[in-house]
Amino acid sequence: MQKTTTIGFIGAGNMAYALISGLLDNGFLAKNIKLSDTDKVLLSQRKVQFNLETFTDNTQLAEQCDVIVLAIKPQIIPILCKEIQANIDHKPLIISIAAGIKSGDINRWLGGGASIIRTMPNTPALIGKGATGIIANEAVNNEQKNLAEQILNAVGQCFWVQDEAMLDAVTALSGSGPAYFFLMIESMSNAGIALGLNKQTAEKLSLQTALGASMMADQSSDSPHELRAKVTSKNGTTQAAIESFQDQNFEVVVSHAMHAAFDRAREIGFELGDDG
Ligand SMILES: NC(=O)c1ccc[n+]([C@@H]2O[C@H](COP(=O)([O-])OP(=O)(O)OC[C@H]3O[C@@H](n4cnc5c(N)ncnc54)[C@H](OP(=O)(O)O)[C@@H]3O)[C@@H](O)[C@H]2O)c1
Repeated sequence: MQKTTTIGFIGAGNMAYALISGLLDNGFLAKNIKLSDTDKVLLSQRKVQFNLETFTDNTQLAEQCDVIVLAIKPQIIPILCKEIQANIDHKPLIISIAAGIKSGDINRWLGGGASIIRTMPNTPALIGKGATGIIANEAVNNEQKNLAEQILNAVGQCFWVQDEAMLDAVTALSGSGPAYFFLMIESMSNAGIALGLNKQTAEKLSLQTALGASMMADQSSDSPHELRAKVTSKNGTTQAAIESFQDQNFEVVVSHAMHAAFDRAREIGFELGDDG
């Protein structure tokens, strides 16, 4: 990334906060980051937090930036794109982090010919542990691809997908995925309480187990399947639990849930993109 590359965030909410924090932690200069939002109170909070230039007018920000990150809710994207359409003659890179919205629709709302990178980050980006799927349209050059990687890697790891339709699969896996693990932690701690543990102990044990298992899977050269086999002794307690999961078709339950998320992601894209 060149020292003078200017990145503008439209929307100063959670994701913008995470990305800006990551960029600053990774040596990017606050003077090269700009931020706009309709919420003046939030904007002045961010100005104090990050010491960067802020705008209440998105068009002013758009005119001044090499990269524009659309960090607003999906429903706002069509209106916003039309709003800044006349202010992007300098051909900035547009990065969308909005769920479901297709790059073809963003391009159309922007008037055509835009370089667009569409991404699907997840909430652990807020603590620098995000997992993001990413795809570029045909107008994006290699330098812009590198730039987008640097921005997204500042809050975790990003992974290119080959086909935009795959971003709906990314949404179903990593986009919505943190909530699946939260549900597992919650369910395990509730079951621990039912088995007689006090609430605090059950919650802490459940959380620490999730953390330990995840870190172990990350650091080990064994696959999760192999790790599971290693801790499952014949006729032991883990085997009893795993067999119970399998009797309840655990894999099918997970697969159904992810298909539901996938279908909903596609639906959102079609709902918001059917104005063309
Ligand atoms: N949070 C996540 O975990 C996550 C994960 C993956 C993807 N995403 C995507 O990231 C995007 C941002 O999510 P977020 O959680 O950061 O949302 P957020 O916290 O609600 O932030 C969005 C901000 O944009 C402001 N805004 C609304 N309309 C605007 C406009 N026309 N111009 C400028 N600012 C405007 C909002 O103000 P008001 O509140 O006053 O409307 C709010 O401050 C969404 O598209 C979401 O799908 C989020």
